[in-house]
Amino acid sequence: MALPEGFLEDLKFRNPIEDVISSYVSLKRAGSNLVGLCPFHNEKSPSFTVFPATRGFYCFGCGAGGDAITFVMKAENLDYIGAVEHLCKRAGIEMPQDDYAKRRGEDDVKKARVFAANRDAARFYHDMLSKPEGQAGLAYLRSRGLSDAVIRRFGLGFAPDEFTLRKNLFLDHMMGLGYTEKELLASFLCAKSQKNGRLYPIFRNRVMFPVIDITGEVVAFGGRVMDASKPKYLNSSDTPGFKKSRTLFALNYAKHACAERLVLCEGYMDVIAVHAAGMPNAVATLGTAITAEQARIMARYTKEVVIAYDMDDAGRRAAEKAIHLLDGVGVRTKILKLNGAKDPDEFIRKYGADAFRLRLDDSENQFDYRCSTVIASHDLDDFNDRMACISELTALLATLHTDVERDVYIGRISEKLGIARESLKNDVLRARKRQERTREKEETRRQIQQSAGYGDRINPDRSKYRRAASAEESVLGILLLYPELLAEVVSGDIALCEDDFLTVFNRRVFAFLVRCREEHGRFDLGYLGEVFNDEEIGRITGMQVARTKLTQNDLSVIRDNIAVLREEGAKEKQKGGELSTDDLMNIIKSRKGN
Ligand code: UTP
Ligand code: MN
Repeated sequence: MALPEGFLEDLKFRNPIEDVISSYVSLKRAGSNLVGLCPFHNEKSPSFTVFPATRGFYCFGCGAGGDAITFVMKAENLDYIGAVEHLCKRAGIEMPQDDYAKRRGEDDVKKARVFAANRDAARFYHDMLSKPEGQAGLAYLRSRGLSDAVIRRFGLGFAPDEFTLRKNLFLDHMMGLGYTEKELLASFLCAKSQKNGRLYPIFRNRVMFPVIDITGEVVAFGGRVMDASKPKYLNSSDTPGFKKSRTLFALNYAKHACAERLVLCEGYMDVIAVHAAGMPNAVATLGTAITAEQARIMARYTKEVVIAYDMDDAGRRAAEKAIHLLDGVGVRTKILKLNGAKDPDEFIRKYGADAFRLRLDDSENQFDYRCSTVIASHDLDDFNDRMACISELTALLATLHTDVERDVYIGRISEKLGIARESLKNDVLRARKRQERTREKEETRRQIQQSAGYGDRINPDRSKYRRAASAEESVLGILLLYPELLAEVVSGDIALCEDDFLTVFNRRVFAFLVRCREEHGRFDLGYLGEVFNDEEIGRITGMQVARTKLTQNDLSVIRDNIAVLREEGAKEKQKGGELSTDDLMNIIKSRKGN
């Protein structure tokens, strides 16, 4: 917490939350607040609310919340300091440099140094292609059909076989440029020998694929062997400047060409082959299954993702996961069927770019794909099986959101199965009503559980101390809304302290408020991002928002709730050694686990 005093207030003053958010979400005025469709989950009616008065936002649908900084963290996929920096740029304020450098680093290594090291390493690997030590690499890349222009565009390179050569080419080069041992270790470019403590390069005798993030920094590498040895690809681990789960290979290029459609591949070579074939809208995850974060990032750039995975079992499962995650963020998905080749790279080499383009254009969309799977799994000549098939399709059709879509597919399917369009339509409508009711029931149950604290990951104590927890939240909600009341609450006859809190999470929030006041003079939602995660910030914002809906938010309400809290605390003490049923249950559960 070392940003200069008053800095965050100033930053937020110059970045009014409604302005910041309206460049991402189209907002409509609703009283003194603004509402819009939540960018963090898929919704049809707006539950995302911006509160200019508290300079916060909260989504009543998914519980995301916070302030301008939190919003930018989520929307731009940045860490806390990255978001502060982003807002500085936006408002033309100078970023406090010292702190910035200090706070970015892990083990004191600055993110900027990691980037610089990666960039210099990429240049070294690339330059190797024109040196004697790199000819094997160049030959391999060419054998994969890559032209010099493509090699240059993707900055491909070669890490020499230093152990065999008995040379320290990479290390000498990097040390010569002034990188320290610590920096090279933190960048995942070098490792330390356990035997003799000496530094050695991680990538050796591999062709190198630099990973470039959307701001143009080299953040990581994938290195491929040139024979059948294992592992086939070696990838950088997460570093101070790189999170695998938030990065997509080639998005730095694809982001300019994917507004309509993005092609999601499995590997580096596939992406490069698709780009080289004249479609610069392909990306890949980095040797891992797609994550929710990556889905969210794609949703920012495109409307539709064509999934171009291998269609073996593993690929199909990975595709299902991708469909599910992309669906959740409102992106249309299609599955690319490549017959006669195992992946896009192979397909393009075998059949050419035009054939690939054709396949893309008639790639099955997710819905068609699921319908054909259902139809294929039934014997339509058998009466019972046929009925089962129709009822599965009806349920599937009912999940379509728009009337137009439903109409189109009802038409197609009734024709395909030779049934009357009207009767299929009626069945679908009935199924929709049923689904609606189930959803409503589930939502109600979820809300009841949430308010009762069951399954509450953020504050698991909530179910145990229900009355206390709600008193705690009233107190915190008011303090979050009027931080100036804190001085009085912690002193004098009230003298609220951490020990008064029964639930761990709320106690943490209170402790944070107190610490903020000590360190910054006052609390601001903007400080939460340093200590709490996304979900926690959402919960905290929710406490504040809950109070804005009530008319009385003053010291007397705080007093009443603290009285409740202390009463509950005393009850707990009295119970003393006695075990509650909950405690008992927990003990039984933990025994079972042993
Ligand atoms: P594949 O084995 O399908 O390789 O792995 P590929 O992309 O077709 O590569 P080529 O054509 O054989 O050169 C797909 C992706 O999975 C990751 C890489 O990102 C690779 O591009 N992977 C694979 C690893 O990270 N490590 C491995 O050992 C293998
Ligand atoms: Mn391949």
